[in-house]
Amino acid sequence: MAIVGVQEITIGVENPGTWKSFFEDFGLTLADPSSQQLRFVLPEGSEIIVKSSDDPTLPPAFLKTDGPREIIWGVDSAVALDQLKQVLQPDFAVTEDPDGTLHTVDPNGVRIGFRVFSRKSIVSDECNENTIGHPVRWNKQRKWYSRAYPKNIQHVVLGVPNIDAAVKFYTERLGFRVTDISRGFGVFMRCDGRHEHHNLFLPKAEEVYFHHISFGVDCIDELMAGANYMQRKSWPQGHGIGRHRISSFLFCYFKGPSLIGQIEYSADGDAIDDDWVACLWSPKFGNLHWVGNVSEAQMQYAEHDVTPLPRPIPSFSQLG
Ligand SMILES: [Fe+2]
Repeated sequence: MAIVGVQEITIGVENPGTWKSFFEDFGLTLADPSSQQLRFVLPEGSEIIVKSSDDPTLPPAFLKTDGPREIIWGVDSAVALDQLKQVLQPDFAVTEDPDGTLHTVDPNGVRIGFRVFSRKSIVSDECNENTIGHPVRWNKQRKWYSRAYPKNIQHVVLGVPNIDAAVKFYTERLGFRVTDISRGFGVFMRCDGRHEHHNLFLPKAEEVYFHHISFGVDCIDELMAGANYMQRKSWPQGHGIGRHRISSFLFCYFKGPSLIGQIEYSADGDAIDDDWVACLWSPKFGNLHWVGNVSEAQMQYAEHDVTPLPRPIPSFSQLG
């Protein structure tokens, strides 16, 4: 069985028309522009569906604010989907749609689902970078971008109160891998069928909240071109632009039009498999390698505060 990433996120918002403009400027493509339904499809085949928060077809809210109503994870085969149902059914209420999509609720009350996802392979241009002593792009200019067109859903970030229960659920029931832990802050996990550093990050919170959804672009030039386009369209920027140490991701966040939660461009993250050594990081040290505008407070951390985690990986709570 392999989970191959987020297949669909359904979002309930008070101002779907504004979100439509936001996502179009961000570079997402409407599946059917003539339809009233706001269904954006990424090149990998994943989808973002935006509906008015009072739309009766929405799943019930698990957040007190605008934001995701349900996250559907894609699995690689019908056999795997059935195995997943068997794994969940003894302890979790699972409902099934006529098309086979499964729905349940995770230990923090987050609505999730599963369906078969034939993820399309992504074709990317080379983004070879010349360094001083190692030029690799000979007699060729870099590709020029006028804006960004994200190719995939990289990860989802939700604050949750019970991280230990969540990690136990996602690793033991769904096969996720813990890839790094930010001490006292949160746990990074990836799906067993993906190679990105994380597809799910769960920071510790008093109650469940929506932090951000990340969309993958190919390189720093596409990320910056996308950021410039969003700036020209006057969408308020969130965090960034910068690079995390944890995951190595380049990032640029924009505030969602409801000003609750952010939408992120990501590029050039670590590609990892089961040989990856998960580490325990100091939150500040792990969060920022560099950022466009930095404050002194952001850079006040113990240098190189990162250590490999023992196996089996202790729980988030045990690590203090
Ligand atoms: Fe992110």
